[in-house]
Amino acid sequence: MARRKTAILISGRGSNMTALLDAAESPDYPADIVLVVSNRPNAAGLTAATERGIATLAIDHASYDGREAFEEELDAALKKAGVDLICLAGFMRLLTDSFVKRWQDRLINIHPSLLPAFKGMDTHARVLAAGVKITGCSVHYVREEMDSGPIIAQAAVPVLDSDDEESLSARVLEAEHRLYPMALALVASGRARAVGGRVVIEKGPKDGFAPLISPPLETADDQA
Ligand code: GRF
Repeated sequence: MARRKTAILISGRGSNMTALLDAAESPDYPADIVLVVSNRPNAAGLTAATERGIATLAIDHASYDGREAFEEELDAALKKAGVDLICLAGFMRLLTDSFVKRWQDRLINIHPSLLPAFKGMDTHARVLAAGVKITGCSVHYVREEMDSGPIIAQAAVPVLDSDDEESLSARVLEAEHRLYPMALALVASGRARAVGGRVVIEKGPKDGFAPLISPPLETADDQA
């Protein structure tokens, strides 16, 4: 099967981008990352992608008059690169409804919580303040409302009594780096399909349904 041409949109350090690029190095991986775009020209992720020989582009949102003009430029770049799928990976710009509709079911995002809990910014601080014992990350199709689209995959991690924002975000990030490549593979291979508000996953030969807990709960104390 032809690999789906994929773009990654970033705004910052791009550690999820790196996880996706690592996965896509395997010729069997169903997505081919053909372009990395940042709306911030100084994003560290852009340098990391360039160093790996990936085509990159900075489209500085600040030099455009409004979201539509910025997205017109973005759309043109995606079209030029023949992009068919988009991964948002720490992309800190809200996209317009019309962009989201145009890319419906070909636009996915990673969010550092177990959606639909803790949508939006400052996720880990709110998780800690709420006193929940399990958090995690979610990869979902993007819909008009922020962090609300059908969920493709999730990973759970424990919240420890000793956690602060830094330790919790590091644990969740580690899970993100394992989850996003898996979720993109499901989408790019056509095994994940949005049906109504849910995602149906066609079972593959190696799939188990064990919950994804990272790190395993029995080692959680070691990290305290
Ligand atoms: C991640 O926590 C992601 O879930 C959120 O923004 C962060 C981006 O980190 N949307 P990175 O740039 O991928 O390192």
